[in-house]
Amino acid sequence: MAVVLFLAIVGCFFGHGTAQDTAKPHILLIVADDLGWSDVSWNNPYVVTPNLHTLATTGVIFNQTYAQPTCSPSRTALLTGKFPFRLGMQRVMDSKKPHGLPLDEELLPQKLKKLGYATHMVGKWHLGSCKWEYTPTERGFDSFYGYHHGSQDYYTHKSARGLDFWDGKTSISDQNGVYSTESFATRAENIISQHDPNTPLFLYLPFQSVHTPHQVPSSYLQTFSTIQDDNRKSILGMATALDDAIKRVTDALKGKGLWDNTLTIFMSDNGGEYSEGQSNWPLRGAKGTFWEGGTRVPAFVHGNMLERTGYTYHGMMHGVDILPTLVSVAGGTEDPGLDGKNMWQSISTGADSPRNEFVYDIDSGANRYAIRIGDYKLVTGNRAPKDDWYAPAEMQQMGILTEIADDTGPFLFNIKEDPLEKSNLYNAAEYASIQRAMRRRLNELKPFEVPFPDLADDPAADPSNYGNVWMPGWC
Ligand SMILES: *[C@@H]1O[C@H](CO)[C@@H](O)[C@H](O)[C@H]1NC(C)=O
Repeated sequence: MAVVLFLAIVGCFFGHGTAQDTAKPHILLIVADDLGWSDVSWNNPYVVTPNLHTLATTGVIFNQTYAQPTCSPSRTALLTGKFPFRLGMQRVMDSKKPHGLPLDEELLPQKLKKLGYATHMVGKWHLGSCKWEYTPTERGFDSFYGYHHGSQDYYTHKSARGLDFWDGKTSISDQNGVYSTESFATRAENIISQHDPNTPLFLYLPFQSVHTPHQVPSSYLQTFSTIQDDNRKSILGMATALDDAIKRVTDALKGKGLWDNTLTIFMSDNGGEYSEGQSNWPLRGAKGTFWEGGTRVPAFVHGNMLERTGYTYHGMMHGVDILPTLVSVAGGTEDPGLDGKNMWQSISTGADSPRNEFVYDIDSGANRYAIRIGDYKLVTGNRAPKDDWYAPAEMQQMGILTEIADDTGPFLFNIKEDPLEKSNLYNAAEYASIQRAMRRRLNELKPFEVPFPDLADDPAADPSNYGNVWMPGWC
């Protein structure tokens, strides 16, 4: 750590592109899609993710790290360091609507590029693509290989009738028939093998796995032959396939001699969708909700630059913190305009978290609000469905059943004492002053909301206009 800090100071005097840059850590940021709390082996021994398991247990497991309830908002938080409600990014990007992450935001890859990094992205974007200005190579990535939208066929790389698979700005069809998890691992291997080791590398690797559709090479299903639920069986296979792909990437970094100076961060973009076979057990709720099961995600950090490893970090952390933390590790300065906090000192030593509050979301159009302050969580407005405790198939087969909720909102929970959100304190007299203080704080934050825009589908988006390709450039 001291060495990194010292070199950061030297870097300020001598500028970038000098030999000092070689000491900056390479950064591997891996995001899994819809991977639930109980879809990783350190939270559920039935899951087979041995490579992730080793990285997590020899690094620092994050046990209280939050994402947004859905995909585009989580990626917004990650790449801007701001809560999506401040940017009108509370909901997922729709491929037919003219919308994207605001262009005046400076994204993580742009910041790292200024600090001397080579920046590459492999995987899912989902932050807007109706015009090229919204797409990865115009937003700080030297290269992009993957897809722009939210989901697609893992083999044909089409959604509806349109192909959505890109190498930079070129639509490619040579991966037809190749499982995306493998396409992405191969591309990451190629980037690493061609990388100049004297330049710090930033590799952003947001995999398609384990989002629907339920597609996985059949060899991955054998381990789970006793699982009676086909969706659960597929998801477990997909998690293992993801794990194998990550091993290919870390092996490539080792082979190239970069691994000892690589900082790896892994997290999911939101909770799992229980009806599709992902699992957040024992947490409550699912993807798309403010329950802990929708937002508290499996995550860890790994790397030699951590002062203390092999422990579970219980501090409060949010996806918005990734940007300032990585910028600090890369030798950059702090930007006071961000919501994110620099967690580096805290996660690398195990010290208390600098974060005491976060916004699950403020979405006035949907009338949905939730915030966390200290140990408490307030949820008001319309109530989302999916509020039970869903047991995954392997537990149901052992007789552990889904528990059905019977409480109603608004909700106030003490998350520290009651992480499973079983005891709603909202109307309890002893908590009246905490409830009022939480509501006051929420009301203070509401004026900072940029509402999510209400846009109509634009027929110009239709891939049939562009030879069955989801082509940017129509807005
Ligand atoms: C992580 O947090 C959950 C929920 O609070 C808790 O049940 C679990 O014991 C924690 N894990 C570890 C390893 O401390």
